[in-house]
Amino acid sequence: MTLDVASIRRDFPVLAREINGKPLVYLDSANSSQKPQVVIDALTNFLAHDYAPISRSAYHLAAQATESFEATRRALASFINAKDAAEIVFTKNATESMNLIVQSWGRANLKSGDVVVLTHMEHHANIVPWQMLAAERGIVLRWVPLTSDYLLDLTNLETLLDGAKAFSFTSMSNVLGTINPVQQLCAAAHKVGAIAIVDGCQSVPHQPTDVQAWGADFVAFSSHKMCGPSGVGVLWGRKQLLDDMPPFLGGGNMISEVRLEGFTPAPAPTKFEAGTPAIAEVIALKSAIDYLTNIGMANIRRHEIELSSHVMNTLQDRFGSDLVIHGPSNPELRGATFSFAFRDIHPHDISQVLDERNVCIRAGHHCAKPLMKLLGVNATARASFYLYNTPEEVDLLADALDSASDIF
Ligand code: ALA
Repeated sequence: MTLDVASIRRDFPVLAREINGKPLVYLDSANSSQKPQVVIDALTNFLAHDYAPISRSAYHLAAQATESFEATRRALASFINAKDAAEIVFTKNATESMNLIVQSWGRANLKSGDVVVLTHMEHHANIVPWQMLAAERGIVLRWVPLTSDYLLDLTNLETLLDGAKAFSFTSMSNVLGTINPVQQLCAAAHKVGAIAIVDGCQSVPHQPTDVQAWGADFVAFSSHKMCGPSGVGVLWGRKQLLDDMPPFLGGGNMISEVRLEGFTPAPAPTKFEAGTPAIAEVIALKSAIDYLTNIGMANIRRHEIELSSHVMNTLQDRFGSDLVIHGPSNPELRGATFSFAFRDIHPHDISQVLDERNVCIRAGHHCAKPLMKLLGVNATARASFYLYNTPEEVDLLADALDSASDIF
C-alpha cells in the first residue's frame, strides 16, 4: 500500500473505538470525514487558551486570533494553488458557497432567457439554488447527460453550451464516484464565454487540487469532508469576479461604510463574510490542511485507487451479478465512493444490517434525486473510503453484506 495506514489510523481516536466488542468500520467519509487528534487539539486548545473574537478588537488576544484565522485562509490558498488568499471566502458549508455564487454572481449577471448548464450527476446544492433563481428570473437550465458507464456524455457538449453564461458541475460525483475532466470542462465553458463553476466537495479532500491548472472561475468545498471541523465551507473565486460581485448576506463586518442612505461593501473576501464566523473551526481547519499536506494529496489519491481496485475485485468475486455498482469500473476514473444495489434488498435494510457489525455506510438518495431517477432507483447503499480505510475493512464490508443476504 502507498500509505502507512496503520500509523494514520492511530491519528484518529474514533477509529480505535469498539461498539459491542467489535471494531468500527467507518465507510461514510463522502458524507463526513473523521478527525485526527491534531485537529481536535487545535480546536480545544484554541477554545481553552486562545479564544477571542476576530477582526474587531485591538487587544493582543484578538489580534492573535485574527492572525490564526487568516493563516487558515493562506493555507487554503496554497492547498488549492489559488493566486491570492483574498480569493478564499469562508461560508458555513459548501451548500452556502453554491448559494452565494447563484445569489450574488447569478443575480448580477443572469436575466430571463440566459442559459446555465448543469449535469445529471449533480448534488441538490448545485441544482436547487439554480432552480430557485430560474423560477424567479426565467433562466433556462440545460443538462449534460451520462454515458452507460457513468461518465459525463460530452458528445453534444458544444451544442449544450452554445449561448450559456455558466457551466456548473461536480469534480467528482458523490453517488457514482465518477471523476470529471475538470480542466476540459472549464475550457469548454470559456470557449463560449461562460464561467466555469466547480462543486469540489468530493474531490478536494481526496486528490491534489490546482484551481489555476483547472482554469475554473469558482470552486466550492467544505472543511468537514477533509478532516476539518464542521460548520466551515469554502468558496474560492477568481479575484476579478469576486471584486465585481455584490455581497450575499448583509451585516457585521462586511462593509467599509454604512450611512443612513446606504452602505459601501468592504473589498472581497470580507464583503462575503457577514457576521461572526466559525472562528475556532476555521482555525482548526489549518491543522487538517497541514495534516493532509504532510501525508501528500497524491499519496492519498494513489491509496484510494488501490482501495477502489480492491473494492471492485472483492465485491465482484464474492457476489458476482448479485451486486451492481453504480459507477465507473476503471479505478483511475473514479474516487473510492461506491453506490451499489445488492440483490433486491432495500438500501436502508442493508445499512441497518451492516450497522449490527459496526459497518457505517450511507443509504438514501444522497441529495441527488434526479440522478436516482436516471438510475431507476429511489435510493442506493453507499460505502465511501478515505485515507484511513484498509483492504481488511473492504473484506469486513463484504462479510457484513453476506450476513445481510442471510437475513433477507
Ligand atoms: N453530500 C454529502 C453526501 O453525499 C452529504 O453524503
